[in-house]
Amino acid sequence: MSKQTIEQLRRERGEAEERFKDDPHRPRYHFLPPANWMNDPNGPIFFNGRYHLFYQHNPAEARWGDIHWGHAVSEDLLHWEDWPIALEPRTTGVDQNGCFTGCAFIRDDGTPTIAYAGITPADGLPRGRRESQSLAMSRDGMLTWEKSPQNPVITEPPEGLDVVGFRDPCVWRDGHAWYMLIGSGIRDQGGAALLYRSTDLMAWDYLGPLATGDLDSHGEMWECPDFFSLGDRHLLLVSTLGRQMYLSGDWADEEFVPRTEGLADFSPAFYAGKSFECPQGRRILWGWLREARSTQAQLDAGWSGVMSLPRVLSILPDGRLSCEPAEELRQLRGQSISYAGIDLNAGDQRELELTGDCVEIEATISMEPAARFAIAVRCSPDREERTEVFFDNHASALGIDSTRSSQDPAAETRVSSGPLTLLPDEPLHLRVFVDRSVVEVFANDRACVTERIYPTRSDSNRICVDITGGDGTFQRLTAWTMRDVWRGG
Ligand code: FRU
Repeated sequence: MSKQTIEQLRRERGEAEERFKDDPHRPRYHFLPPANWMNDPNGPIFFNGRYHLFYQHNPAEARWGDIHWGHAVSEDLLHWEDWPIALEPRTTGVDQNGCFTGCAFIRDDGTPTIAYAGITPADGLPRGRRESQSLAMSRDGMLTWEKSPQNPVITEPPEGLDVVGFRDPCVWRDGHAWYMLIGSGIRDQGGAALLYRSTDLMAWDYLGPLATGDLDSHGEMWECPDFFSLGDRHLLLVSTLGRQMYLSGDWADEEFVPRTEGLADFSPAFYAGKSFECPQGRRILWGWLREARSTQAQLDAGWSGVMSLPRVLSILPDGRLSCEPAEELRQLRGQSISYAGIDLNAGDQRELELTGDCVEIEATISMEPAARFAIAVRCSPDREERTEVFFDNHASALGIDSTRSSQDPAAETRVSSGPLTLLPDEPLHLRVFVDRSVVEVFANDRACVTERIYPTRSDSNRICVDITGGDGTFQRLTAWTMRDVWRGG
């Protein structure tokens, strides 16, 4: 396949956005490919003044299969330009069934390099496929990529380990050595991240598992490991076939001692997170926000999968992970409405004087210990269709209830929640991002929950707040409409 020029890709993006402009579920300020399937973020990296985001992509249809590496580039983390497909399967024998997840890094001589999992058919192996690790290099500033003639650089799992998977390499440099972590799992025992070392990126020695999980609580397979230093700790992110988990701890002498663990997001909607370091030392994480509707509904829509907003990571003094929306997102704020110093009594309900399906709401609320506060978004005037972002002070739980988010039976709905305990005089601080079928919530810099929703009614664009079980006060609440980054915003 001959490579398309950026000019052609720009035209195609314009045509796609025109084609999808009346799709009420297609996000307007999140990243997604022009059409068809996307899953994991791959190899995010800042290079020569630009952010590069790669992603698992089926360019032919809106369902998983024939996995390529899509590529997009941004100067501001908000607006994206599509670049030619970076990796496609089939061109060599080692990845004829797919170029799976991996990472990007810069070699000592300045060459941008990708490490990825190549998939080939293999009878008798888990899922009938062989997973091995390969490299690709770019000599033209990341526009095109050449696979290494030495692929695969790691052919098979370590001898003697009965693994259920062996993929998603994460490579980094430490001192004189290169390290690679591979997502894996030991049959009937649990997820594992396997550690390798190399001096030349070609010959790799297996050092042992960097970390292992427990079958019941962490699943049998760890996908998409991501490992890096953050503050005075190291953080390991793994995707446990359903959840985005993190372990924070100490890395020294090629050993990682995990000390704290938790979920980077309370919902299974956020998955396969990958991070990178930007100038000024910020560590940014993207995750795949998978669809919560039927395969047929995705094929009918013509697109599937959205990237989360960029989330800035840090470590709290107690070792827990903190995620905050990247500062740049404030630039997308448009028209707004603000309220300050409003008392709410238990049982009160209010509708905001701002409507929209692409909005941000920022609220600081103090409330009595027994109070439960909720913001309903994508809410119809009769409240029949609505998605509820809630904080239950008594239960110390933050969540999203999407059980009434859609009247479409193809939409999957659920309640996703997790722990958030406020300190004695600490108010609740929420940032809620609504982008048509996406709701992303950040609370008090230490809890995140995300959901995909598919409202059916065009008037499901109200925002309502209510409080039950106790009284509360809005110290401040502001809501903004958000700009469209795909159609001239
Ligand atoms: C995670 C994952 C990875 C794999 C990729 C395939 O969602 O299953 O483990 O490399 O997706 O697309």
